Amino acid sequence: MVNIDEQEIINAAKVIKGGGLVLFPTETVYGIGANGLNETAVKNIFKAKGRASDNPLILHISHADMLKDIAKDISELEYKLMDAFWPGPFTIVLNKTDIVPTVVTGGLDTVAVRMPRNKIANRLIHYAGVPIAAPSANISGKPSGTCVEDVYDELKNSMDYIIDGGKCEVGIESTVVKVENGSVRILRPGRITKEDIESIVSSVILDEHILGEVKENEKVLSPGMKYRHYAPKTKCIMIYSENNENMVNRINEIANEYSKATVICSRENKDKYVGKEILDYGSKTNLEEISSNIFSMLRNADKNESDIILIEGIESKGIGLAIMNRLIRACSHEFYIV
Ligand code: TXA
Ligand code: MG
Repeated sequence: MVNIDEQEIINAAKVIKGGGLVLFPTETVYGIGANGLNETAVKNIFKAKGRASDNPLILHISHADMLKDIAKDISELEYKLMDAFWPGPFTIVLNKTDIVPTVVTGGLDTVAVRMPRNKIANRLIHYAGVPIAAPSANISGKPSGTCVEDVYDELKNSMDYIIDGGKCEVGIESTVVKVENGSVRILRPGRITKEDIESIVSSVILDEHILGEVKENEKVLSPGMKYRHYAPKTKCIMIYSENNENMVNRINEIANEYSKATVICSRENKDKYVGKEILDYGSKTNLEEISSNIFSMLRNADKNESDIILIEGIESKGIGLAIMNRLIRACSHEFYIV
């Protein structure tokens, strides 16, 4: 994270208060922020992203005091989760109050709330004095922005203020959960893992759409699950095997069918794809490193103008589940377990 002059954050907060859009860093990914209680400002977020109006936004708060204005009937279990994981990369779906405009929630009677731990995000919300509605910073369908350079061209014309806070530490979006009948259901996996939540709650359920595909007309609990996500322009395929050699062989076989292939792989395997463009996403033994690089890698792979992008999968455990959830969507569900 880079040091930002406090005055810059105060100026950005004025833009939020005036109904404008601010590109700002959080610990997960950059957000496109607006006053979450201002319907017109929130509508401009949807316009800037080209986002479907039924896909709701997260409201970001800087202090627990802001919660009572936007959410009601909060249970003990919900408070326990917020105590454990806030501030941080954790979002909880709660019953909304009347002051939350329906544009924020895509017509639902629930609202997703998160308290970021990134200092710039936290100060921005504090100075704005209102919850900030913010989706990930990217045109809908594209990989989320984890540094300003990655999204500057696609968003510069629709932003009223840009805060450059350097590279995001976590690199993938927050874990989204909803409490149902005393169980915690994970709607979107993130850095706060199933195992982390299980350490404080006995029943944690992974929604079946986290790795599975949503069928046409199927009802989902989180509208974001339905939409194409994180996809580079170039066709992408993900390959995974518990046996490293099998995975490398299969990727080489597929790569050889194309005249120019880019392989996104672990540092340990980067010398095993001879004659291919290589992007290494970090060490297999450091999933935090991989998660912080993955969206930039997907964007950089596009710049190679290859015919195909082949990506090594990883084991879907811990943070690995969140990484695989993003990769499967980036590949529009074309993946092989070999
Ligand atoms: O880390 C993050 O969460 C980032 C940063 C900027 O905070 N934000 C982010 O927002 O990823 P977005 O809009 O790209 O993703 C929000 C996800 C979507 O999948 C949406 O469908 C889901 O949260 N969501 C929002 N409100 C919901 C609700 N009331 N019920 C169920 N799912 C909801
Ligand atoms: Mg997003």
